[in-house]
Amino acid sequence: MYTVTPNGDSSKNALIDRLVSDKDDLKTKLIENGAILLRGYELRTPEDFEDVALVLEPGLQNNYAGTSPRNSRTKFVHSASELPGHYPIMQHCEMSFLPTAPRFLFFYCFVEPNDGGETPVCDFRKVYAQMDPKIRDEFERRGVKLIRNYTGPNTKASTDVYQLKRWDELFKTTDHAVVEEECKKNDLTATWLEDDKLKLVNSRPAMQKHPETGEMVWFNHLQVFHREAAAIEYRHVFKRRRDLYSLKYMLALNTITFFKRLFKKPSDEAMHMVFADNDSEIPRSYVEHVQNLIWDNMEANPWKLGDVLMIDNFSTSHGRLPYKGPRDILVAWSA
Ligand SMILES: [Fe+2]
Repeated sequence: MYTVTPNGDSSKNALIDRLVSDKDDLKTKLIENGAILLRGYELRTPEDFEDVALVLEPGLQNNYAGTSPRNSRTKFVHSASELPGHYPIMQHCEMSFLPTAPRFLFFYCFVEPNDGGETPVCDFRKVYAQMDPKIRDEFERRGVKLIRNYTGPNTKASTDVYQLKRWDELFKTTDHAVVEEECKKNDLTATWLEDDKLKLVNSRPAMQKHPETGEMVWFNHLQVFHREAAAIEYRHVFKRRRDLYSLKYMLALNTITFFKRLFKKPSDEAMHMVFADNDSEIPRSYVEHVQNLIWDNMEANPWKLGDVLMIDNFSTSHGRLPYKGPRDILVAWSA
């Protein structure tokens, strides 16, 4: 990981001065490396973080159409995810399933975790380059279709542990017409279902060309959306942690997935992904292949208080390893 540390003065103002004077050089390094860590500076509040992120990217955004529950902390700073600590958040380029994925991401460590909770990164240019050419060609040729099933404010309680936030939380409205308009803007097909549920479906290319370097990038949410992905992910988590905590969740997720295979239609899952050309299932072995490559290329560093992690979202993914105890990681993103 390319890391920037203080040359003596570690104040926020010293960092901002440095970011202003070295801005072009840092952008070049960010494109080359995919991620840069700013470590050792006195950034004590979400507002400090916002000031730093705004220097790097004056066009920060605050509309979020992703799948994680997030709370707003300042105008442009949100909690990275309110999902419980035992959930694995698999590697992904932020909102790669939308035509308007953010260009750059900024994470900030407001409360340092002491047991897990890293935000690993992975260069998805390497994942593309190292994929089995036969599997890669198939994804390039066929594209991917994303399926999401949301509950609504009047849905009877869901018992699905994978259930996403509700559609009224996602769109911040209960007005069906507003939801439909938003979906149209984002190329999402919206279908209202019984029990106040909403199905969102959209098709995307599986890869994307990097806008500056022209390199090809694995750029889709297979390893997040596919119904086999969480169970596969926890096998990797257990291999890394080798503790009872991960063993418990690995067994639980693999058991749940086993029964889902038997009793639940894939298209009824909270999230799933199929090939876009004819809606056929993507084999589990393909998901495993991609997740193995991601774990081979992943870099997971423990957070330190005040760290800022900048990510080129068009080449490099991020995720979250499970954790116990306190942790507060915040996020901001550009257009
Ligand atoms: Fe994310």
